[in-house]
Amino acid sequence: MKAIIPVAGEGTRLRPHTHTTPKPLLRVAGKPILGHILDDIVQLGIGEVVLIVGYRGSEIVDYVRSNYDLKVSFAEQTERLGLGHAVFLSREHVGDHPIFIMLGDTIFRGDLKGMLSTGGNVIGVKRVEDPRRFGIVEIENDRIVSLVEKPDSPKSNLAVAGVYVIRDSSSLFDALQELITSGERTKGEFQLTDALNRMINRGAEIRAFEVEGWYDCGKPETLLETNRVLLEIYSPKTEVAGNIIIDPVHIAEDAEVFSSIVGPHVSIAGGSVVRKSIVRNSIIGENAIVEDALLESSLIGDNAVVRGMFKRLNVGDSSEIDFS
Ligand code: G1P
Repeated sequence: MKAIIPVAGEGTRLRPHTHTTPKPLLRVAGKPILGHILDDIVQLGIGEVVLIVGYRGSEIVDYVRSNYDLKVSFAEQTERLGLGHAVFLSREHVGDHPIFIMLGDTIFRGDLKGMLSTGGNVIGVKRVEDPRRFGIVEIENDRIVSLVEKPDSPKSNLAVAGVYVIRDSSSLFDALQELITSGERTKGEFQLTDALNRMINRGAEIRAFEVEGWYDCGKPETLLETNRVLLEIYSPKTEVAGNIIIDPVHIAEDAEVFSSIVGPHVSIAGGSVVRKSIVRNSIIGENAIVEDALLESSLIGDNAVVRGMFKRLNVGDSSEIDFS
């Protein structure tokens, strides 16, 4: 089996961070998003990965090659024509091997092993509150009978969660080829969902497997939420003398923290310095400096400097100050 990870997007919703770092390499709970995904792939015993790269692709390939003992190949998506198009580009790297697709901005926690051992074609699904934002499946027992990408009137609230095991990979690539040749787009893009629906219409069996933890990293709020959840799951115990640390946090070994209150839910990357500050629910990048600052729900990029957010007040009796 080969893993396919589409990572071509520009990550516009995470600007300015993605101006200088491709989204999959943004850190959450102590390592890049892609690191969490690849750790899962290694755990599942999959030894070969095909990356579909585009925006800042060489940085992504370098990261994988220098940190993982995996066989890596990559295809380049020069135009953003959709997830279906991205997956199609992996065809010559895949041959007729079964494939395991994981989207590059999503982290799963749950029984992926169980999903793989289900056999046949399987798609991870999860019940969601607003099904119009996702690919949606209709099922009979656990067999998928139809898939629609971001429907205006959803027939169920079971969303495609962005993890797919397709053993009939040739049928999927044929269906994708047909979409591309005939120019059939949905919402302006060639959709993986449409190709899977074609497979079903031709009699292919695809099962739905409910995934437990499904964490999006595509925008600042969800990246912070994923940071919170993963820190809770890993639950590290951290002590740094001279500070108050409220677990769970991740503080890189070579980060320095002085006279501060840090946590809960803070990740601080290597080389950073936090001094005389209060920081909670935030991600601080590499070699950043945070000094005399009060931070909450913040993303601080690599090499950034944040200083002096405490206020000096000289407030008389019966005054009321409200900075909200
Ligand atoms: C993609 C898929 C969609 C799926 C979603 C999961 O959409 O096309 O079917 O539900 O990922 O995150 P995107 O989020 O790229 O618009």
